[in-house]
Amino acid sequence: MVNNKVNELRTTIHFKMSNKYSIIREGKRDDTMSTNAKFNVIIKEICEEKGINYNLLSRDWITMLEYKGKTRFISGFQFGLNDHALGNIMDDKFALYEVLRTKKIPVAEHHILFKNTNNNDYAEGYNTVDLVKDFYNIHKPIVIKANTGSCGTNVFKIEKEEDIEPILNQLFEHNHSISYCPYYDIKNEYRMIVIDGEIQLIYKKKKPVVTGNGKDTIRDLLIAFNKHYFSDKLNDPIYDRVLNPGEVYEYDWRFNLSRGASASTDISDEIRGKLIEIKDQITNELKIGFASIDIIETNDDFRVLEINSGVMTENIIEIIDNGKEIVKSIYTKAIDKMFE
Ligand SMILES: Nc1ncnc2c1ncn2[C@@H]1O[C@H](COP(=O)(O)OP(=O)(O)O)[C@@H](O)[C@H]1O
Ligand SMILES: [Mg+2]
Repeated sequence: MVNNKVNELRTTIHFKMSNKYSIIREGKRDDTMSTNAKFNVIIKEICEEKGINYNLLSRDWITMLEYKGKTRFISGFQFGLNDHALGNIMDDKFALYEVLRTKKIPVAEHHILFKNTNNNDYAEGYNTVDLVKDFYNIHKPIVIKANTGSCGTNVFKIEKEEDIEPILNQLFEHNHSISYCPYYDIKNEYRMIVIDGEIQLIYKKKKPVVTGNGKDTIRDLLIAFNKHYFSDKLNDPIYDRVLNPGEVYEYDWRFNLSRGASASTDISDEIRGKLIEIKDQITNELKIGFASIDIIETNDDFRVLEINSGVMTENIIEIIDNGKEIVKSIYTKAIDKMFE
């Protein structure tokens, strides 16, 4: 069986693998240049302190580092510390699901769908909308997302069957493969940044949800929840409304810091223990050089949602105490490792 896999399968992998590049070149978000600039400033500072020669190339997508006769590259947010195959797996939600499931590591269920015009062998039996509709009818609600997306872009919660087709059509305009999964009622989401299998930082992501007190507007409450994100985003008059006492307002159902979620490092020992257990299961099986692991907590269990091989830290810098120092020390370790 000839599988024209490499380029066909996940052409969009480039988007994810090179997030920074996409952010810059495709101008995804207003603050993108500052995202990139902040990252570059930190890397530059580290290089200056260590006497590493630092050069931005290819419209800032590539950072070339030279030290004691060795040349190393950062591309996007990738430090080259995971092998390429593993990087591809981590950044592909369905591939990661299959790998972790095969290794009996708890992971959020993901299925793959290809375009109905994709007649390659690998897509056979995985390219009809009916598959998603059948899945919806068993599991509703469900989540549909770009298989290699990031930052919550192109992640949709489906609550009506008639939404499935338009959303798939929209996603297939720019993606070669789509993931669909049951919707998990997530209580908390956690991220662990790992270098060489060792945790460097664990934080809890807090969904952007506020509860009224009969005095404050939605805007006041959201700004109090996450000033960094919301201070310049709530000009619409809908945010003028004062929430009734106890009334809950959900700004976004996703836990992405790039969509208003906040973060805290205040995590109980019990939860920390559970997260470390999963991290150990992962790092015993996968040789992770540098990555962030996202774990969801539901009423029933903890499971991996995704692993990102590019470690973006732009938002936590502003949100957690000593964010900049913590992030800088993580990137310093990563750079040291590049030159080992
Ligand atoms: N199956 C799901 N059930 C519930 N929430 C989900 C599910 N999949 C994604 N989400 C929410 O959407 C966010 C973004 O999804 P994720 O798979 O991490 O994609 P991205 O790579 O774009 O961040 C997650 O952080 C989570 O809060
Ligand atoms: Mg995510």
